[in-house]
Amino acid sequence: MDQFEIKGGARLAGTLQVDGSKNAALPLMAASLLADETLTLRDIPDLSDIRNMERLLSELGVSSTGAPGERMQLRVEDPTLCHARYDVVSTMRASICVLGPMLARRGTARISMPGGCAFGHRPIDLHLRGLEKLGARIRLENGDIIAEADRLKGATVFLGGPFGSTVTGTANIMSAAVLAEGTTVIESAACEPEIVDLANMLNKMGAQIHGAGSPRLVIDGVESLCGTDHPVMPDRIVAGTWAIAAAATNGEIVLERFPWDSLLAALDVMDQIGVRVERLDGDSCSSEATVRVTSDRRLLPTVLTTQPHPGFPTDLQAQFMTLLCLADGNSVITEKIYPERFMHVAELTRMGAQFTRQGPTVVVQGVPHLIGAPVMASDLRASACLVIAGLAAEGETIVKRVYHLDRGYVRMERQLAALGAVIRRTDDVTGEVLWEPPVLEGQGSSMPSIEIIPQSKSAESFVQGDG
Ligand code: EPZ
Repeated sequence: MDQFEIKGGARLAGTLQVDGSKNAALPLMAASLLADETLTLRDIPDLSDIRNMERLLSELGVSSTGAPGERMQLRVEDPTLCHARYDVVSTMRASICVLGPMLARRGTARISMPGGCAFGHRPIDLHLRGLEKLGARIRLENGDIIAEADRLKGATVFLGGPFGSTVTGTANIMSAAVLAEGTTVIESAACEPEIVDLANMLNKMGAQIHGAGSPRLVIDGVESLCGTDHPVMPDRIVAGTWAIAAAATNGEIVLERFPWDSLLAALDVMDQIGVRVERLDGDSCSSEATVRVTSDRRLLPTVLTTQPHPGFPTDLQAQFMTLLCLADGNSVITEKIYPERFMHVAELTRMGAQFTRQGPTVVVQGVPHLIGAPVMASDLRASACLVIAGLAAEGETIVKRVYHLDRGYVRMERQLAALGAVIRRTDDVTGEVLWEPPVLEGQGSSMPSIEIIPQSKSAESFVQGDG
């Protein structure tokens, strides 16, 4: 299995362009099921989750041409294929995004019930109740959700759950409602930028969606949707991750296509703790910016709580935790979206971090420095947090099971190496170097010879992708 070997201490410097957003691209791809014509998506990131969605759509009769990372064209070739099977859905929770579009366009959908993920139970009750409100008949059979509806009918749908709204649930109900008969009102809709991106694209395809970005959506159903050509928004979580990595190494980097307007809560926390994010493009009106990220030698502690957008994003919680390990004083992090999303705490502790956890709240005690160690990735964002910790730590860190990272970060090791990180990808059994930065003329390898202790291939206890 692939792992990262990192030698800590290098200050990151250089320029990166932020890739397209995974969490925007997945529901956008699923929306191809709604159209009678070709859907062209640009700036699709080259990620394993994207390739999984391509594979799922192919099993649902949607052809895909073009390469991720460039332009992707999706077109329905066979609308009779309506079964999203377990072995595809089980690799990625976000597969659930095909349910609403498939039901709305085809009148029937069969999709394996998503399992749990590394940070706890993630129900889809709000998705199913919303579709039933629109007139769907839903039953569970052999672990599959079977949904049927001759034609969905507009209704008022409340999507508020105990942890706020649901992002993919809003995508599902909104996508279903665009072809329903009559008007649908979604109350307590998710306000995430990815939902706005989806609504904008659906409206370009002929939908009538009003209020995207607010908790109340009004959707006037239409008869059909045409194709369109749509650029995927930049990934705000990837952008935030790079900014945190720069701050953790006291580096100075420039980020292009930085989604400024989508990260105001995270930018506010960065400002509080001493991370400077300066717009270089001058045009403070555009939602995408070119920014320079620098930080103080020691950061200030803070108190942060994850919230639905526009609050602080849960997907940056783990990365910020690493940064706050290096602050002068105690910080408090409360996780209001996924109260169990702390798999990274034990691994960071192995690197010298100090925490006190009480349920959904963790007190982060600032320490002078982290110490490199072998650590285990468990979910996408926890893995990113461990890589950042390795970059900032003294000594060498090995981050195992980096396949989690490949789901949400495009060739992370190469992008970080381009900023000067001392990192390579190796096989955790054979020690084979799978990728390392090219050795420049006259310079030896910057990677130390980290001793690899070959381990028997551990039976990877299967955990569904936590997307
Ligand atoms: C999306 O997941 C993102 N994934 C997640 O990012 C992100 O963490 C999450 O939204 C919250 O922002 C994608 O967009 C593909 P939710 P989603 O439904 O839609 C509860 C990453 O790292 N809930 O908004 O599955 C749920 O348990 C991933 O990129 C119900 O109770 O999340 C959670 O506590 C991880 N019933 C809260 O709501 C439901 O029917 C928010 O979940 C649905 C959700």
